Amino acid sequence: MAHKLLEGKTGIIFGALDELSIAWKVAEKAKEEGANFILTNYALALRMGKINELAEKTGAEVVTADATNMDDINALLDVAEQKYGKIDFVLHSIGMSPNVRKKRAYTDLNYDWLHKTYDISAMSFHKILQALYKRDMMNEWGSVLALSYMAAQRTFSEYNDMAEAKAILESIARSFGYFYGKEKKVRVNTISQSPTPTTAGKGVAGFDKMLNYGEKMSPLGNATADECADYCVMMFSDYTRKVTMQNLFHDGGFSMVGISGDILEGFNG
Ligand code: NAI
Repeated sequence: MAHKLLEGKTGIIFGALDELSIAWKVAEKAKEEGANFILTNYALALRMGKINELAEKTGAEVVTADATNMDDINALLDVAEQKYGKIDFVLHSIGMSPNVRKKRAYTDLNYDWLHKTYDISAMSFHKILQALYKRDMMNEWGSVLALSYMAAQRTFSEYNDMAEAKAILESIARSFGYFYGKEKKVRVNTISQSPTPTTAGKGVAGFDKMLNYGEKMSPLGNATADECADYCVMMFSDYTRKVTMQNLFHDGGFSMVGISGDILEGFNG
């Protein structure tokens, strides 16, 4: 159902690891919609993942960049600037917590790892925005998006320190969105996505149960990675030019439901 919503637009997509990645689906859809872009990930992901397959499929150049490293970000923006001049969209689809990965309990966090969680999953968003802003790299009405999760607002017992990282991420979208909007007419938003079976998603303890729970709670069912990519494309398009500083729930209605009939059925007595 391509509508060429992104015809003539250029951008950067962070975070495509393999075909399950949300960023992978965004890249495929953005291409279908007429966009050209650079794909980027950090060195280990380039070695372990399949980004070159995606690059071939979408005609994208791959640039290695650790999103926590300002020099890497600037080197990436050098390539983008040379290729496109100013750009129209950026997707931050990056998340990692050593505490989650190493199964540390929330009440026993390793603080060095917590710093890493924040740095990779939240501060990287500020670094990318700051580099884009200082270099005046975005066209007017450009759109910068990051992906979040509802644990930023409510407690999800197994989400660990990623909850704080997502709260910071969403706050950065609001704070930077103000300045970017006022000074350069650039939009900054986060999309709060349903649980999605990806490498990062499946790393969360009890992920399959969260997926089932989400499915039973949400009147429309969980939103898939493909559907998330559709929403991202719309947010990059000219149809959402006055949407900024928002955290946009893309969750089949989950965030507004207290309890559903399907969940109630599981309880007796
Ligand atoms: P994924 O594992 O495919 O993507 C995570 C990406 O982060 C990987 O490509 C990884 O290489 C990249 N990354 C990690 N450290 C990096 C670094 N230092 N520099 C650059 N890139 C780095 O998983 P998924 O699910 O597609 O994750 C994308 C985003 O969506 C994340 O922010 C995640 O928290 C968010 N999200 C995921 C949900 C899910 O259930 N899968 C639900 C809601 C949000």
